[in-house]
Amino acid sequence: MKSPGTNTRRKANERALEIMISLGRRAPAPTDLVGHLLACHGRIREFVALAAKAGATGGRDVEVVEACLAVERYFERALPLHVEDEEQSLLPRLQGRAAEVDEALRTMTEQHRVHGPLLDELLVASRSVRASPGDPPRRERLRVAAVQLAAEFEPHLALEERIIFPAIGLLGAEAEAQIRGEQRARREVLLNR
Ligand SMILES: [Fe+2]
Ligand SMILES: [Fe+2]
Repeated sequence: MKSPGTNTRRKANERALEIMISLGRRAPAPTDLVGHLLACHGRIREFVALAAKAGATGGRDVEVVEACLAVERYFERALPLHVEDEEQSLLPRLQGRAAEVDEALRTMTEQHRVHGPLLDELLVASRSVRASPGDPPRRERLRVAAVQLAAEFEPHLALEERIIFPAIGLLGAEAEAQIRGEQRARREVLLNR
């Protein structure tokens, strides 16, 4: 039996997904470090929305399979690079500058850990849909995983955009250029694998 809060929670999760989709459409071009990070957030929102769409009913099998492959590629390969950018390049440089930023960095890191099992579930559900795209329970499992992930991601992305990314302005041009270099190096390692 569903608990009394289930419907409310589900509505809140669906709303988080809607917000992610609408914000994802407004991602700016990556012209500088903050622009690049915001563009990554745009893609996170986009691929969570794509996962939810692949999990919803309808659509040709071939399109559902393609959507699942794109979702898996993004969350297996690209998202970990963004997390590394934040934890290995931003965090050590921003730490100790302001109490509010330190608190946000702590929350950010904790949230990254919380996302792990939800991402694992999304990937398992997506592979399962690919194996049998016409199977409604498999599609529903993927849709639910995407909605749950959206509910966790949206406050996380919002916190980074509200407190952490604006603090990058404190670092100066040289540090920003170093971070961009580190980001490029991470992506080159991936391309050369
Ligand atoms: Fe993050
Ligand atoms: Fe982020």
